[in-house]
Formats: sequence, structure tokens, C-alpha cells
Amino acid sequence: MGSNGTFLDNEEAPTYAPSIPVPNVQELVRKDPFQVPQRYVRKVEDRPKDTDTSYLSSFIPVIDLSLLLMGNNEELNKLDLACQEWGFFQVVNHGVAKQVSQKMKDAAAEFFKLSLEEKNKYAMPSDDIQGYGHAYVVSEDQILDWSDALILLVHPSHYRKLKFWPNSPKGIQEIIKEYSNAIRKVATELFQSFSLIMGMDKEALLGLHKQLVQAYRVNYYPPCSKPDQVLGVSPHSDTSTITILMQEDDVCGLQIKNNNEWVPVNPIPDALVVNVGDVFEIWSNGKYKSVEQRAVANYSKARISYASFLFPHDEVEIEPPSHMVDSKTTAAL
Ligand code: OGA
Repeated sequence: MGSNGTFLDNEEAPTYAPSIPVPNVQELVRKDPFQVPQRYVRKVEDRPKDTDTSYLSSFIPVIDLSLLLMGNNEELNKLDLACQEWGFFQVVNHGVAKQVSQKMKDAAAEFFKLSLEEKNKYAMPSDDIQGYGHAYVVSEDQILDWSDALILLVHPSHYRKLKFWPNSPKGIQEIIKEYSNAIRKVATELFQSFSLIMGMDKEALLGLHKQLVQAYRVNYYPPCSKPDQVLGVSPHSDTSTITILMQEDDVCGLQIKNNNEWVPVNPIPDALVVNVGDVFEIWSNGKYKSVEQRAVANYSKARISYASFLFPHDEVEIEPPSHMVDSKTTAAL
């Protein structure tokens, strides 16, 4: 941190945990669509089950951001309950122009169509989190996810390492910036409502971040001949404050844990999926839940998802503001 308490512009981007290099899944499927190497096969108890919980998807709350922005109390209550009971909700009327999200989807689809050699020009090195490849592989015995990803830090701008930003298709860098700016606006607007439901003034939650860091992860899930034996992404909670995910309108994959069941988050066309991350759970003193999520693979369709993670600066100490600490609970300890 600079001596005046601000963060320096030449500060290095965080690199997080080193990751072991692993095969490219899209290429594996291109070479032989029927192979599912042992390294991807999950233990029976970890596999997606047939039990149909998809009807539960319709209970996942849908929040109208335009109502939140008008200070609508009913919508604020809905948001409060969504964060407590589900840790997830879908957002409609979020203000991201359809044209911006469509351009993002078209450009990403083109990028993943490039040859492996082309995509590997942006390959993620084992000691960095940014680039095209696989993060969080820490052991040779780890069961691998059925997906590849492009991961970029987009804010603050001096965290950007342009050598990992694709040059193809033409214009994709500008599209990523435009899409990320639109998502950042949604995030800061949501933070205003979160501040209110936490009993703080509107700008307080954003202020706790000191600097709002934004990471972007585009996931590519190739089709899989044995989708019942693999997972697209292993169960995890997000370390972020919140994550904002754009999914495809016509391919399912995301599942979330609710009452010990895996519930699919079926896409609502044009909606964004938002979830509470670990930082927000801590800031809310456990009132809001950072729940487990995973992605399943599909038999015949590839799926692309677009996750934007919002974080406080690395140096911020995460603890609940004092008014969120229930005096009765502390007294009982
Ligand atoms: C992630 C993630 C879910 C999805 O990128 O961390 O959980 O539906 N993605 O792709």
C-alpha cells in the first residue's frame, strides 16, 4: 500500500497458487469423442445422480435490479431472503445491453474454435492464475474437471497482463473490457442494495473493498460421452464477495447445494446468476451463505459460461463490521 493509504498503480497482479499442467479437454474430445480417461472419472458418491431435482430450480429467487434501484422494499426483502436461504439468485432487468452480452458470447465461441496451437499462445503458466488452461490443479492424483478456461484479471487495469488476452477473433479484447465494465456496474449497484439490507449506508459495502478487484473466467465445457461419471467443475464455494455468471440460454450445467440436494440453476434467458462468496459471508457474519456449487457436463452439447468475480483488495482484512456481530451470540461465548 502507498504511504497515503491508497494502492499503487505499479503494484503486481496477484498470482495465487501454482497449478500442475494437465491435458486440454477440448482437444481430448476432438481427437476421440468417446474417450474419458481415468483421471476424470469421479468416485461413485461424487457423480451427478439421476434423481430429478430440476423442479427445485424454479424456487431459486429472481431479483429485479430495476426495482432495487428504486429502493423497492419488497425487492430488498426478497434479496435479503435469497442471500440467507439460497446464497444464489438470478437477476433480471440488470441493464447489461443484450448486444454487449451477445458480442461476448460470439467472440468467446470463436476463440474456443481456434486450434489448440493458437489458443496456447495465451497458455496459463504454472505459476500464474491468468491465461488459457487450468487453475487449482495441485496434485497428480487430483480428479480433473471436464473443462478448460480462460482466466484474466480485468480490474484494476494494471493487473491486466495483455500477453494472455486473445488477439483473435478481432476485437475480443475490447469486447471483454466492455462486458466487464457492464458487469462491474451491476456489481456496484447490487452492493448498494446489499449495504442497505445490512443496515449500512449505500456506499459502505463498496468502501469495504478499498479497491474493487475483478477477475474474469470463461469456462468451456466440451460434450462428454459419459456425463454421469465426470464433473465440469468440482464442488467449491467462491472466495469472492460476489460472483456474477452469464450462462447460455439453452444449455444447463450449473448446480448449487440447497438442503443437501444439488439443484440445477436452469437458465432464464438474458438473466445473470449471482452468488454470495466467502468474503460476503464473512462480512455478513454468516447471515448470508456462500454455498457450494458445481457444473455437470452434457452428452451432446458444449457449454460456455462467463464468470465475473468481485473481490476486495488482497490486503483488506476480512471481518464483519461490528454492527453485524450479534451481541447476544458474543455474550454467550
Ligand atoms: C466457476 C463456476 C459455474 C458454471 O467458474 O467457478 O463455478 O456454471 N462456474 O460454469
